[in-house]
Amino acid sequence: MDAQAVESQALSAIEAAATVDEVEEARVRFLGRKAELPQALRAVRDRETGMTLNALRRRIAESADAREEELGRAELDRRLREERVDVTLPGDELPVGHLHPITQVRRMVEDAFLGLGYEIRDDREVETVAYNFDKLAFEPTHAARSPRDTFFLDETRVLRTETSASQIHQLEEREPPVYMVSIGRVYRRDAITATRYPIFHQFEGLAVDRGITLADLKGTLRHVMRALYGPKRAVRFRTHYFPFTEPSIEPDVSCGVCGGEGCRTCKYSGWIEMGGAGMVDPRVFENVGLDPEAWSGFAFGCGLERTAQLRHDIPDIRALWEGDLRVLRQF
Ligand code: DAH
Repeated sequence: MDAQAVESQALSAIEAAATVDEVEEARVRFLGRKAELPQALRAVRDRETGMTLNALRRRIAESADAREEELGRAELDRRLREERVDVTLPGDELPVGHLHPITQVRRMVEDAFLGLGYEIRDDREVETVAYNFDKLAFEPTHAARSPRDTFFLDETRVLRTETSASQIHQLEEREPPVYMVSIGRVYRRDAITATRYPIFHQFEGLAVDRGITLADLKGTLRHVMRALYGPKRAVRFRTHYFPFTEPSIEPDVSCGVCGGEGCRTCKYSGWIEMGGAGMVDPRVFENVGLDPEAWSGFAFGCGLERTAQLRHDIPDIRALWEGDLRVLRQF
């Protein structure tokens, strides 16, 4: 073996290596088990040649170590330079969501009634026929009692068709005076259309005290409609019928799309129906063990989807259930 030739070849290979891997390749080529120098070392018989070749091996190894360290440091310098992070730069903006329009309206309703001193209730969505219908004085033949209109779970239980059962729960749980609003989902067997959906939300109010009159109901509804739609919209009341109120009325709000002139949204009447209301029927008081001569009260119920639709002029109620961000981002 020509020690000098091996040395110069090895050192120039190490010098020429541009990466740590290439240094490693050179190291294997000249110092690996099958390389010329280690083979020669194994075959050495005399001490002097042994010392010379060992020194040569050490020089090559040290040269490889040094080159590796040099390349490693250069690589680190490069990365420090190129991968520097400027922590003073503004960060990426995270998308911030907002409340669903139904939730927004729900909070507005809650605010309006909390301001009047009402308490907010949250009741069960599975109701018994007794609470959903009987105690609310629905006559035995009322259409809503049919499984064509209402989701029955079995003979005695339904998915509540309205939040009105909260009136019964509240009056059974606590002595009047009572001022409460119950908000939540209700269910009806309706086909899905632009204005109907089989699940929707209602808010239900109940005030029971001594000497409450229809004037109190109208004042309260006007206050709430103003809170929901602003001072420009007019409110009117029409007579109606509900099993659990007497007399019963329906509040209308002037159409916001046409300003009351008449348009497609309000079916050219200038008004949009808001829900139902009335004075608590004496039979309801009797059903919960209260004396109708001693107590009086009013109740009302309105749909939250309807409210959101009117506030934002949403033409199709399905948009509120589809979760399409392109739609929801607008509110
Ligand atoms: N529960 C009625 C409905 O879903 C709305 C309603 C009418 C609620 C009159 C009331 C009321 O509290 O007094 O159509």
